[in-house]
Amino acid sequence: MICFDEKSATFTLTSKGAVYSMGVTDGVLEHRYFGAPIHCDDDLSLFRGEAAASFEARLPGTVSQNQILSEAPAYGRGDFREPMLVFRGEAGETTVDLKYAGHRIVSDHELDGMPSCRGKETLAVTLSDPVRGVSVELFYTVFDDVPAIARSARITNTGEGKLKIVRAYSAALDLPDNGYDLITLYGAWTRERMPERTPVRHGVTSVDAKRVSSSAAQNPFAALVEKNATETAGRAYGMALVYSSSWKISCEGAQNGTVRLLGGINDFAFSKTLAPGETFDTPEAVFAFSSDGIGGLSRAFHDLVREHIAPPAFAKTPRPIVVNNWEATYFDFDYGRLFSIIDAAEGTGIDTFVLDDGWFGARNDDSAGLGDWTVNLNKLPEGLTPIIERCHARGLKFGLWFEPEMVNPNSDLYRAHPDWAISCPGYEPLLSRRQLVLDITRPEVRDHIVSAVNRVLKENAIDYVKWDSNRNVTELFSDAADENDRECFAHEYALGLYDLFRRIIFANPGVFFEGCSGGGARFDLGMLAYFPQIWTSDDTDAGMRCLIQYGTSYAYPPSTGSCHVSVCPNHQNGRTTPFATRCAVAHLGPTGYELDLSKLPPEERAQIREQNERYRRDEDLVLSGDLYRVADPFAGNAFGFLLVAKDKTKAAFTLVKLLNETNSERPVVPLPGLDPAAAYRVEETGAVFHGDTLAAVGLPLEWKKMRDFDAAVCHLTRV
Ligand code: GLA
Repeated sequence: MICFDEKSATFTLTSKGAVYSMGVTDGVLEHRYFGAPIHCDDDLSLFRGEAAASFEARLPGTVSQNQILSEAPAYGRGDFREPMLVFRGEAGETTVDLKYAGHRIVSDHELDGMPSCRGKETLAVTLSDPVRGVSVELFYTVFDDVPAIARSARITNTGEGKLKIVRAYSAALDLPDNGYDLITLYGAWTRERMPERTPVRHGVTSVDAKRVSSSAAQNPFAALVEKNATETAGRAYGMALVYSSSWKISCEGAQNGTVRLLGGINDFAFSKTLAPGETFDTPEAVFAFSSDGIGGLSRAFHDLVREHIAPPAFAKTPRPIVVNNWEATYFDFDYGRLFSIIDAAEGTGIDTFVLDDGWFGARNDDSAGLGDWTVNLNKLPEGLTPIIERCHARGLKFGLWFEPEMVNPNSDLYRAHPDWAISCPGYEPLLSRRQLVLDITRPEVRDHIVSAVNRVLKENAIDYVKWDSNRNVTELFSDAADENDRECFAHEYALGLYDLFRRIIFANPGVFFEGCSGGGARFDLGMLAYFPQIWTSDDTDAGMRCLIQYGTSYAYPPSTGSCHVSVCPNHQNGRTTPFATRCAVAHLGPTGYELDLSKLPPEERAQIREQNERYRRDEDLVLSGDLYRVADPFAGNAFGFLLVAKDKTKAAFTLVKLLNETNSERPVVPLPGLDPAAAYRVEETGAVFHGDTLAAVGLPLEWKKMRDFDAAVCHLTRV
């Protein structure tokens, strides 16, 4: 709900479980409040602070911009904290003074060419500066089922000369106190999204990506949580970007005790010049709130993704259970090897075979073929048809791997169009994994990709596509761009990417698309608007997956991160874990297998059918349940997830012991979130406990009997 009280010039935005309030003082749009629901007719302007009031008493009619909580901080009129917006006039002027100029309420607001949250009502507040010749429309979307607000900004050059945008973040959130820790998610290939918690210091702390991708190194998410906040208690604020290219989030503990959170397009090596009348849209940023600690904040993001971002046709529908041949064969396959995997999948509950990298062009290793989306006839002389027919004969669907944005210099595409690869004049383009990136800011390059990929999808019965992207962009430059806009390349790449998604993914509504980027290096809310799920990480070791899936769940629901069982010793880190544990951990997301089924020992093969039946019975918990992180593998010797059905009729608890220690303490793992008054039967043991007991003491576990990486899985049903 969006209300405007004209008398006090106050806007009140109400989402379920959160209120966001702002007011206009002397033309300045000030932030008043974001948090738990409150009585909005109470006068929040009384909290503006002594410092602001005393400044204004000395200089009547002047808002002290450094003392207030600001909705759209800009530079030049006394706010010395990090600005959200920075402009340059033609003579190099940097001063900007944005004042309230009006507002409107719109329905079904969407961003042009970029993904955004689906909400019903959006407030658009216009701020303008006639001297600088700029107006900024701030958008705020509310949700009636999630404690979150989605924000973005549209910048218009209202002057007569050129206006250079040198920073255009999506949103700013000023909090009146600094009692917070900052949580961010750092990582690397095979180690994505590791949570890092530090006190908010005085000064600016930032995380970013300069890779033209959201990246594995840092994820476009940050949380400010009360210093003593736990998984279950304390105020927690989160910011996540609906964006998949270079980004930045910064957090500033200011001298007056306030905290400012900012984020959006990375302003590093960025600028965009607007001619008179031209506009520029920022991507969207989402702020979520919970007074139930970090876990509550994560559940807010999970609901937001499932209800307002993920493609509705797939968001909560059962997922394919795949077997993927990558770790089984890598590039080395022929019909025989693939058929043996497909044949072994019959009757196991696996329903989709995915043919990974190596099926196209002259692709026998990573040195050739990317860009040539025609079948590698040396390897597969009769094309894909025999594989697809084999799948169908065994009751399986067929999936295929693509890496549409890339090209190997050793490819027909590159030989025909060497200028289509991104490069900077005068420099030999850097190879990474022996490939280059196509300049998808150019319409003709996109047209080619769309027709090449769509042709394969049209000519073959393909039910599933894995869309990969295995390198970062370097030497940012495009001939196609206007000379003044060369510094907008990273953003133009995102717009090109989203255009590809619309023309390939949305044009093939019957095909299920999974995202991937060297594992989970492009895992963000922008991608999740197109891909119901993303390959979480190339690290398939169950031990590492406990850490990766734990960190990923800070912002992203289990339904969005695919998890596969693979062989041991694990190909990435050499670790051996029990087969049952690999399966338990892979059941905490859309599940599948990444191995040669035909080579599995019979006792493991025999378990697969049962595992998949078990997964299907409670898949709704993965797709739409509430997640409680009940044991933190970064803080202790166990990993624990509890998934609870929204109606609290059932739950699934998974605990993994990490390294065994003799005589170690048995951890107490309370299981919150169930109906305290209801009794629950444990399927595995027959024991019955009430929700309040489970919330206080958890379940009895045979902790001492558990060895390295053993898992305990308990399914609870309300009786
Ligand atoms: C990336 C993906 C893997 C696999 C390979 C193929 O690394 O994350 O799952 O598809 O590419 O080259």
